[in-house]
Amino acid sequence: MAQTKTILRALAGETLPTPPIWMMRQAGRYLPEYRATRAQAGDFLSLCYNPDLAAEVTLQPIRRYGFDAAILFADILLLPQALGADLWFVTGEGPRLSTITGEDDFAALKGVDAIHDTLSPIYETVKILSRELPTETTLIGFAGAPWTVATYMIAGRGTPDQGPAHALREGNEALFARLIDLITAGTIEYLDAQIQAGAEVVKIFDSWAGSLKGEAFETYAVEPARKITAALKKRHPHIPIIGFPREAGDGYIGFHAKTGVDCVALDNSITPEWGAKHVQPDGCVQGNLASSHMVTGGQALIDEVRHVREAFSNGPHIFNLGHGITPDADPENVALMIETLRENA
Ligand code: CP3
Repeated sequence: MAQTKTILRALAGETLPTPPIWMMRQAGRYLPEYRATRAQAGDFLSLCYNPDLAAEVTLQPIRRYGFDAAILFADILLLPQALGADLWFVTGEGPRLSTITGEDDFAALKGVDAIHDTLSPIYETVKILSRELPTETTLIGFAGAPWTVATYMIAGRGTPDQGPAHALREGNEALFARLIDLITAGTIEYLDAQIQAGAEVVKIFDSWAGSLKGEAFETYAVEPARKITAALKKRHPHIPIIGFPREAGDGYIGFHAKTGVDCVALDNSITPEWGAKHVQPDGCVQGNLASSHMVTGGQALIDEVRHVREAFSNGPHIFNLGHGITPDADPENVALMIETLRENA
């Protein structure tokens, strides 16, 4: 059967007259209906582990805006929790985890086989969504990339420069590499289970890839993405994979070919012209409107939507922001972005 979902067509390499669109963090605090459901759930993790409410918040931006894809509502830090790390969120500050500083902390983690005990409600959310989403909407599952997940597991929190993770990588590379291998193996099983439950595309978020340089980028950003992609392609050859080595700079060049991903998501540290010239010839790209436009709006937003669309118009493209929408964004600006993208369509 010919593919009719626009996101899947772009991921298969088709250049569409109007690119399909979805938005990172499209279910989130900028939406009043999200804030209401989150209040009903209690805290953020209770929302992630409540399949009915997690499905509800995933559907909210689809109902409001008609995005071409829905992204499963969950978090990249649920996998470390399933591997035995303690995880909690401090309101207004962000995530906290138990830290990994030496062999004992690593030895206390669980094996990959244990993850489904914790993560089964997430698969239930995926099942609900694959029943309830409109037929034209693609369901995206996701996980964090091993390096990004490791930065949180090692430091126990978000860090501006990923200092503790770099220190462990340099100070005890054998232990660091075992942690990366454990997360890589866990990520394969986690994404495999999401696909079995109904995810049609999966995305690997490497939010901190930009702090890995040269050889370290190849070993800890490229290689884990290649392993995850190879394992998933073997089990599910037709499921497209999106890689997001955020702020990789020159590391974006050749990322499709080196890892086997079908699409590379671009952040706003590069211009759309640069991405079109150096990355898009290798396959589909996603991005990269600055999320600040969702706060400021106006003519600058309209101009920049047209600019991004035009720059990527000669190849396969999924329109998105360069990073997640922020809580201070105006929901009206999201509507204006979509209306502008689809004008003359
Ligand atoms: O995009 C979506 O709508 C799907 C759901 C999703 C969330 N987090 C929900 C969330 C996805 C894909 C993520 C990925 C994620 N989580 C990443 C990678 C992408 C990126 O942003 O770089 C990272 C690094 C995390 C870890 C994480 N989760 C942090 C650092 C924080 C705190 C910062 C913040 O924005 O508050 C979270 C919390 C989080 N994850 C929220 C949401 C909607 C806000 C929680 C709330 O409601 O209070």
